[in-house]
Amino acid sequence: MNEYVVEMKGIVKHFGQVQAVKKGEFTLKKGEIHSLIGENGAGKSTMMKLLYGMYPIDEGEITVKGEVMGSITPKTAIEHGVGMVHQEFMLVNELTVLENIILGFEPKKGLTIDFARARSEVETYINQYHMEVQLDKRVSQISVGEAQRVEIIKTLMRGADIIILDEPTAVLTPQEAKRLFEILNRLRQDGKSLVFISHKLNEVMEISDRISVMRQGTYMGTVLKDETSPLDLTKRMIGREVFLNIEKDYSQAGETILEVKDVWIPSQKETSKIRGMSLSVREGEIVGIAGIDGNGQSELVEAITGLRRVEKGSVILNGKDITNLNPKKARESGLAHIPEDRNTRGLNRAMTIEENLVAVRLDQPPFTKGMLINKPGQDAYAAEMVEQFDIRPTDYNLPTSSLSGGNAQKVVVAREVSMNRKLLVASQPTRGVDIGAIELIRNTLEKAKKQGAGVLLVSAELEEIISLSDRIIVIHEGKITGEMMASEANENNLGLLMMGGEEGKEGEKAV
Ligand SMILES: Nc1ncnc2c1ncn2[C@@H]1O[C@H](COP(=O)(O)OP(=O)(O)OP(=O)(O)O)[C@@H](O)[C@H]1O
Ligand SMILES: [Mg+2]
Repeated sequence: MNEYVVEMKGIVKHFGQVQAVKKGEFTLKKGEIHSLIGENGAGKSTMMKLLYGMYPIDEGEITVKGEVMGSITPKTAIEHGVGMVHQEFMLVNELTVLENIILGFEPKKGLTIDFARARSEVETYINQYHMEVQLDKRVSQISVGEAQRVEIIKTLMRGADIIILDEPTAVLTPQEAKRLFEILNRLRQDGKSLVFISHKLNEVMEISDRISVMRQGTYMGTVLKDETSPLDLTKRMIGREVFLNIEKDYSQAGETILEVKDVWIPSQKETSKIRGMSLSVREGEIVGIAGIDGNGQSELVEAITGLRRVEKGSVILNGKDITNLNPKKARESGLAHIPEDRNTRGLNRAMTIEENLVAVRLDQPPFTKGMLINKPGQDAYAAEMVEQFDIRPTDYNLPTSSLSGGNAQKVVVAREVSMNRKLLVASQPTRGVDIGAIELIRNTLEKAKKQGAGVLLVSAELEEIISLSDRIIVIHEGKITGEMMASEANENNLGLLMMGGEEGKEGEKAV
């Protein structure tokens, strides 16, 4: 018998003018975790969507468990045991977890849904793979990590033994990623075959048996985990080394640009309520907010940028009180914002790259000429941004909905950074982007700082906080538990403060 449960050969896929996959190859063995890596837009998601039958292939052949598949649809893919957990989740917020899991193939008792049977089936998986999920909560009330476990259970309930996970850790905290890996390891032990897509090479090195690389739509080869290294993988992906450690210069921090004074911010979640927080950001300085996701960092950012109401306290930008101004007014007072969720807040997916790039300042030259729109001015600007931020494909008339995840992120970063505002609030600025783009975005933030902007950085990646920030503020359950210069910070002392800083508190008592 063939050793592969999946074989994809000579795959070609176009979207209009864009050749997403030029020469795609992929094989998957039973009981392995096979990582698929490559730059943003390399064709990873497309390859896996073809396997899952979301689009037809133009050329090539896909074999699943020895059977050559004709045209695949998600329905026939599922019948052959192929399941997919997408980059963007597809759960219905208003339904409960259990309702979501059985949606579309509810077990019936006569004419009614047999919830008891559904529940006991789901519970079998929950126990077998130790997946913590709360079946009666609404999806809108659960964390991303939990939503992801729900997606995995959904594939299992439909009989999947080949499971594709497209950047499952991009939205997870390091703690949640660790839990996910425990689940993936149990699935592997149980003989399931997994495809894992990620930009995080340390994760890829931790979880994979084999690793395949794609570059610009073309298969670049497969290596065994034990025979490679992050450096080797980087070179295979982009053909050069990458330098993520930026040269920091903290000599030019100037006047205070942002002042948050004893703010109280409500939140639905108890741990995310901000309870009296004060901090400041100066010109020419990057201040990093470290904390476990869900401890108030999103609420803080939303309050500063006008997306959430402040109950008490004030936000002062450049000497002006901007507390509870609406987002547009807050922006006009001198801030730019890279939001954590590019799809709901960062981009209008139906609009083109160019329209998204100029959206927030359509009323300014060179985008207008007198009362009229200056189309050549807009085109020139879009072309410059596409070039400078390496947005691919380079055709700025394409809708952003057709961009790969990382390239969509680059559009948001390009627009916000190029506004040259006094304050840049950057939430998870490198989420989902490839290692080359991480380098680019980090250098961009450092450059904005050198030009005098104050940057407030929120990131789930401690490594990013440490290497980019000048000063680090740690928060836990809506309160500041510590502050230090980045030069004094490491994963241990930050980690401790992120857990509430018990040791720090005891230390204070002792004094
Ligand atoms: N539905 C679509 N319509 C048009 N173009 C598309 C579509 N889906 C993907 N593309 C294009 O195909 C190319 C490959 O995209 P894909 O999403 O497979 O990349 P990726 O390797 O998953 O990247 P990322 O790491 O950023 O997620 C990109 O240039 C993308 O813009
Ligand atoms: Mg992708």
